[in-house]
Amino acid sequence: MRKNFVAGNWKMNITTSEAEALIQGLKNNVSDVSGVDMAVCPPFPYLKLVAEWLKGSAIKVGAQNMYFESKGAFTGEVAPEMLLDVGCHYVILGHSERRHVFMEKDEGINKKVKKAIETGLNPILCVGELLEEREAGKTNDVVESQIKGGLADISTGEMDQVTIAYEPVWAIGTGKTATPEQAQAVHRFIREWISENYDADIAEKTRIQYGGSVKPGNAKELMDQPDIDGALVGGASLKADDFAAIIKAAR
Ligand code: PGA
Repeated sequence: MRKNFVAGNWKMNITTSEAEALIQGLKNNVSDVSGVDMAVCPPFPYLKLVAEWLKGSAIKVGAQNMYFESKGAFTGEVAPEMLLDVGCHYVILGHSERRHVFMEKDEGINKKVKKAIETGLNPILCVGELLEEREAGKTNDVVESQIKGGLADISTGEMDQVTIAYEPVWAIGTGKTATPEQAQAVHRFIREWISENYDADIAEKTRIQYGGSVKPGNAKELMDQPDIDGALVGGASLKADDFAAIIKAAR
């Protein structure tokens, strides 16, 4: 059985004091939660602090991005070894904002996925279509090419470390959520792709999170779908009560 996995993507939306209050609130709210994996993904400057605050808790820490080299003259970039060094367990890669604001392409995202795995981090590979792509009936094509590109040369064994997040771009930060049926259909499509390109066992084990305006009010019906194994939560992960309610809906 796959264990649901709920991760909070704080994006560029926090200060030290807000982060401290959020972590305190979360720890109080989810201390008795079991049966679901949990993570928060703060911006780089707060990773080490948050990891320290979370010591002894079941909540793990992830980063929102990384570079695919270990060290060198790459001003402004952060190496995967640095993320491990400050206590990260996960790293979000290929997020829609990285793809559409910073123009990241599948080839570079794939290099990051490979490097993250090699370094011992667990990548959360994000995929998802634009509204015009959905309206043109191209959702599966777009998602397939992002999965295929992002997972190029990732071996069956390496797939153990990978989580996929399906996040339709039109649902991110917009308050518009995919219906449980729309999300389930794409999750099923992704799982079948993994089954055909790896094997049925890997497909069964790989966790596929849904992301895009997940809130306490819609979390349960989304995560009740057979192929939705948790959530990647943006806005609602900045409120301890909301994020805790989503985590509880994932049990
Ligand atoms: P949202 O963001 O929950 O605010 O829509 C999700 C994400 O970008 O991961």
